[in-house]
Amino acid sequence: MTVTQTALIDAHAHLDFRQFDSDREAAIDRAREAEVVTIVNVGTDLASSRASIALADQYDTIYATVGFHPHDASKVGPSELDELRDLAARPKVVAIGEIGLDYYRDRSPRPAQRQAFADQLALAADLDLPVVVHSRDAHEDVEAILDEYDGVAILHSYSGGRQRLDRALAKGFYISISGPVTFRNAHRLREAVAAVPLDRLRVETDCPFLTPHPHRGKRNEPAYVRYVAIGVARARGVTPETVARATVDNSRRAFGLE
Ligand code: NI
Repeated sequence: MTVTQTALIDAHAHLDFRQFDSDREAAIDRAREAEVVTIVNVGTDLASSRASIALADQYDTIYATVGFHPHDASKVGPSELDELRDLAARPKVVAIGEIGLDYYRDRSPRPAQRQAFADQLALAADLDLPVVVHSRDAHEDVEAILDEYDGVAILHSYSGGRQRLDRALAKGFYISISGPVTFRNAHRLREAVAAVPLDRLRVETDCPFLTPHPHRGKRNEPAYVRYVAIGVARARGVTPETVARATVDNSRRAFGLE
């Protein structure tokens, strides 16, 4: 299968992370050359949210999200939520995230994670912004908390399997797919990818992490979202161009981009 030349959106990147300190601008150039027309840079705490906004202000092709990752949930108090609300009002901020629960690393106590998740969902609902959701080894609690939420949600780097899709799809959520779809042993994920309606799918890198085949083992970057699209296309038995076009439309709709 050839590499598609159709435009793509990387719906989830962390270009502000130190892994890009030596070549951030070059990575953004490579993405543009690879026809990645939009990159959504995702905040993980206040500093990273500010850095995401700074990147978005600097580059036409970049948009930002602001939020506290579950790893940093123990930092979230009333003043941090106020600050987040201010940052969310900036013109190129398109979502609250990434927020959610991570019971794999447990870097913040679980009650603090659940509280920060619920507080940020309330903020997003109040501001009428979509949310970018991180869920790792916490799918049941994430589902329970999202059951109370009525806005737009994007399940980032989806890993829930086929059987967990129904509830998310019934809520109208978007399913965002990353590099593991290209891994040889990812049969369960590909089965889920094949079951998502085309108008709910999105592709992302989560760079610098989750590097797709054939670059696995190296740092990930937005240009490689193309390999994710190819992996999704293979899982569904359609062309990469079909996936590219649909996921661009879906990401634009989910984030309210023009
Ligand atoms: Ni991320």
